[in-house]
Amino acid sequence: MRKKIVAGNWKMNTTPAQGLKLANEVNDMAASAPTDVELIIAPPLTHIPLITQALAKSRVKVSAQNCAAWEKGAYTGEVSAEMISSTGATHVIVGHSERREYFSENNEMLLNKIKIAMQNGLTPIFCCGEKLNERDSNQYFNVIEKQISEVLFKLDTKEMGNIIIAYEPIWAIGTGKTASPEQAQEIHAFIRQIVSKKFGDELAKSTSILYGGSCKPDNAKEIFAKADVDGGLIGGAALKAEDFIAIAKSFPK
Ligand code: PGA
Repeated sequence: MRKKIVAGNWKMNTTPAQGLKLANEVNDMAASAPTDVELIIAPPLTHIPLITQALAKSRVKVSAQNCAAWEKGAYTGEVSAEMISSTGATHVIVGHSERREYFSENNEMLLNKIKIAMQNGLTPIFCCGEKLNERDSNQYFNVIEKQISEVLFKLDTKEMGNIIIAYEPIWAIGTGKTASPEQAQEIHAFIRQIVSKKFGDELAKSTSILYGGSCKPDNAKEIFAKADVDGGLIGGAALKAEDFIAIAKSFPK
């Protein structure tokens, strides 16, 4: 069966010293979270070598928040999947809505990032999700199907078997407005259904689909209780170790 995962997206927060402290706190508290929940933290790039070293023997895995869409060369300011992987990080978030919006990342770029990430041994956490007007005008199924089909459906079955999907409705990110458990379940089931149609039932059933968007200790239980929700991609609440670990303890027993 598929993995339960709680991943913390720290975004552009903390200095390296603060980040190291937070990573150590998460590591110290990790023992209280169920052993079948995979814990991942995604600090800013500058912190990653420090944190992978500190957590070398930890169950807590380290992810980047982004990687370059090219292998190497004259791309000033970019950081490659190979560089990230060489630090001991194991995952990379690809296609977060903030990257799509503020850095004009398109589906073609995201497919390149995913391919290069996997060639370098990183597991991509692929984000999708609709804007508020797309939800209000009932276009959200089409929007999500397009995001998934233009990127993930270009992968082969073996590659797809290595993908974690995160459904993050943009209207719920950092707004304090979370999707209801029913809204999350509806989309997660839909994503699993289209993945099944394309790649088969077995693969769809083994793909972890995380919910993201104002997920907190006080709402995670209800959301994680839904059949097709396999965990969360946590922003704000991942900046407090207690909250992050409380969320990791929110799966049904
Ligand atoms: P949030 O962010 O939990 O602060 O809403 C989630 C995300 O953007 O990954």
